[in-house]
Amino acid sequence: MNDQARSLRSIAREQGQPGRPDEACAPRVIAVTSGKGGVGKTNVVLNASITLAFGGARVVVLDADLGLGNIDVMLGIVPRYTLAHVAAGEVGIADIEVPGPGGIRIIPCGSGITSLLRLPESERAHLVSALAALEREADFIIVDTGAGLSPGVVGFLAAVEEVIVVTTPEPTSIADAYATVKVVSHENPAAPVMLVVNMARDLQEAEDAAEKITLVAKRFLQVNIKLLGFVPRDLCVARAVMQQKPFVLRYPSCPASRAVGEIANRLQGRGDEAASLQGFVGQGLAGFFRKISSRS
Ligand SMILES: Nc1ncnc2c1ncn2[C@@H]1O[C@H](COP(=O)(O)OP(=O)(O)O)[C@@H](O)[C@H]1O
Ligand SMILES: [Mg+2]
Repeated sequence: MNDQARSLRSIAREQGQPGRPDEACAPRVIAVTSGKGGVGKTNVVLNASITLAFGGARVVVLDADLGLGNIDVMLGIVPRYTLAHVAAGEVGIADIEVPGPGGIRIIPCGSGITSLLRLPESERAHLVSALAALEREADFIIVDTGAGLSPGVVGFLAAVEEVIVVTTPEPTSIADAYATVKVVSHENPAAPVMLVVNMARDLQEAEDAAEKITLVAKRFLQVNIKLLGFVPRDLCVARAVMQQKPFVLRYPSCPASRAVGEIANRLQGRGDEAASLQGFVGQGLAGFFRKISSRS
């Protein structure tokens, strides 16, 4: 595992050679993950990315979720090539990139980052230079890691700079999210961990879920989880998924879209606001959540 993490990290870092632009221009590389599948991760990635892009950010999404309902399915697109083809030198990164709504750029990772890490040196070099090019052109690189703690997912968690954990209020989802936070705390202790509670029925349920995981992580892992936001259970999400359209575009004023708007705002430069559950839930976010919940 550590070898793999190092390997991924070195892919990410090898671009830090001469020629790399100023550190201040480096994109934020964020993994969006969850313990359990089906919690809304891909929806959060896609819709938050589009919202960030509408705000002027250059966003690249790495679609590394190999489960069902990943980003290509959600948008009704069929990628012809993946990162594996880039590594093989068959095509360039521009050939695999799929333009997404709002100007986001989607990179299909294909069949497992794990196999990409075991590539011969020459193929790895293709991949490194392709990723370096991407990095120069992005403000955010957002990775939809898929669920669980497979070696590929853990590799990403170890390599990125920030991690967003998505959970629902279900106890099984919370327990699996906690297991993910635990792995991040081992593999990548410097990475800030942020939390999104999705599909809560009301504010109380969202707060309870956030509090459970936040308190336990602080007590047992000494990890301070930043609460990034809540997305309410909202019929618009399921409807938009059926229509293969991102809900922020299809239903821009629905509660989930507003909630994602807040998440994107907080992600963009206002991260400090999310410093603690108390600061957040006690004031702004609670009020916000009440407002959007009462609109549904
Ligand atoms: N906030 C929400 N409200 C209602 N349904 C949701 C919400 N978020 C996700 N869903 C439903 O859950 C399904 C799974 O979401 P998805 O983003 O594919 O999860 P994951 O990527 O974690 O597997 C979606 O198809 C959608 O119908
Ligand atoms: Mg998914």
